[in-house]
Amino acid sequence: MNEKKKGIILAGGTGSRLYPLTKITNKHLLPVYNKPMIFYPLGTLKSMGINDICIVSGGEHIDDFVRLLGSGLEFEVKLTYKIQDGSKGIAHALLQAEEFVKNDEKIAVILGDNIFEKVEAPLNIFSDDNAYIYLKEIENPERFGVAKLSNEGNVIEILEKPKNPPSKFAVTGLYIYPSDVFNFIKTLKPSQRGELEITDVNNWYIKQGRLKAVFIEGFWSDAGTFNSLLESTLFASKRQNK
Ligand code: G1P
Repeated sequence: MNEKKKGIILAGGTGSRLYPLTKITNKHLLPVYNKPMIFYPLGTLKSMGINDICIVSGGEHIDDFVRLLGSGLEFEVKLTYKIQDGSKGIAHALLQAEEFVKNDEKIAVILGDNIFEKVEAPLNIFSDDNAYIYLKEIENPERFGVAKLSNEGNVIEILEKPKNPPSKFAVTGLYIYPSDVFNFIKTLKPSQRGELEITDVNNWYIKQGRLKAVFIEGFWSDAGTFNSLLESTLFASKRQNK
């Protein structure tokens, strides 16, 4: 099996939903119980067997990440850093890592505020030509991307923050892409909120019949609002003290 895989942690953005905690500090450096937030997505990528990882963040904070994580030696990973100018969306942040990835490699992209209890990696996920998203069933998915599913359980469309969600399956911030993702992002136009949207990327893979979904068990949260940061902190403390 030809498995060439790398990881990318997206740790940019303004963190406006956590203001004023994020007035000075990057969101992904805030504490989630006893560790800085970014340690959790780093751990998730490591649990998928990925140890070559690129961190993308804004120029005003990238040195904080370098001081915290260095070369990655302490974490048994190899780290590369890329700067995103401005907050132009998740897909734009991902594009900054283009030269980190070789043509025959697949990438696991994780949002730096996403906390997962455990993540399964199905066979061939890092060797086939498909993109994968991770879905989690939750009660109120409307503040996330939400998957519309066919009767067979295939994803037929993803809607970004829909007022009337077509299902209870939220699109989590973990994505697996082939390296052709970069050429597609270059064709994207900004959305109404002025961002290059990751949901447009995923809908493009659906149109090509190349998007697969993995349904996750266990705890998942982003930690990007006061309540979800608190929930994530409680989860991390329980796990640490069990
Ligand atoms: C982003 C994505 C959304 C996804 C979420 C997961 O939303 O646009 O589709 O469900 O991350 O954390 P954002 O946090 O940028 O609003």
